[in-house]
Amino acid sequence: MIQTTTELEKIDSFFLEQGLEMGNEPVDRHVQKIWTDIEDGVLVGAASLGLREGHWVVDGIAMLPAYRSQGRGSRLLAHVIEEARRRGAHIIWLVAKSPGFFEREGFSYTDAEHAPEVFGCHDCSIRDIDCHPRWMRRDLT
Ligand SMILES: CC(C)(COP(=O)(O)OP(=O)(O)OC[C@H]1O[C@@H](n2cnc3c(N)ncnc32)[C@H](O)[C@@H]1OP(=O)(O)O)[C@@H](O)C(=O)NCCC(=O)NCCS
Repeated sequence: MIQTTTELEKIDSFFLEQGLEMGNEPVDRHVQKIWTDIEDGVLVGAASLGLREGHWVVDGIAMLPAYRSQGRGSRLLAHVIEEARRRGAHIIWLVAKSPGFFEREGFSYTDAEHAPEVFGCHDCSIRDIDCHPRWMRRDLT
């Protein structure tokens, strides 16, 4: 069941456990809304919408491994997109660890130089050495 929460710390821990990098952003994340996917009282997935320096971003999204590939990540992302649209966003940005998923979800690739500098990856010392994040955007208009 998808529901919203304000428990940012708990969700950040969940994201970290699923391999997302949180807390290295150069700007305030300004998390606007968080959705959780709960099954039998267990947190199995989450997604969050951020507004960083005026830029709408998919702040984080992850599912527990056992619950992936069932369409649940896509359902969570749909909430993020719908809310961003409702609030007047024209573009939503992210740095993808799973670009294939976001490509299927209508996001396209861009390079860091054409993306707002609101992600921790921008100035990271291992960027394009040990880690190959992909900057992506989706037009919402
Ligand atoms: C990315 C993630 C949230 C997707 O959640 P999910 O529940 O597995 O996604 P869905 O089942 O809704 O997938 C929708 C479609 O995308 C595909 N897909 C999912 N992950 C994919 C990936 N990494 N690469 C390519 N395609 C992918 C699925 O096969 C599915 O296609 P189908 O409907 O034809 O089967 C999940 O894999 C995850 O938590 N990954 C680890 C954390 C992470 O990388 N988060 C993103 C940070 S930017």
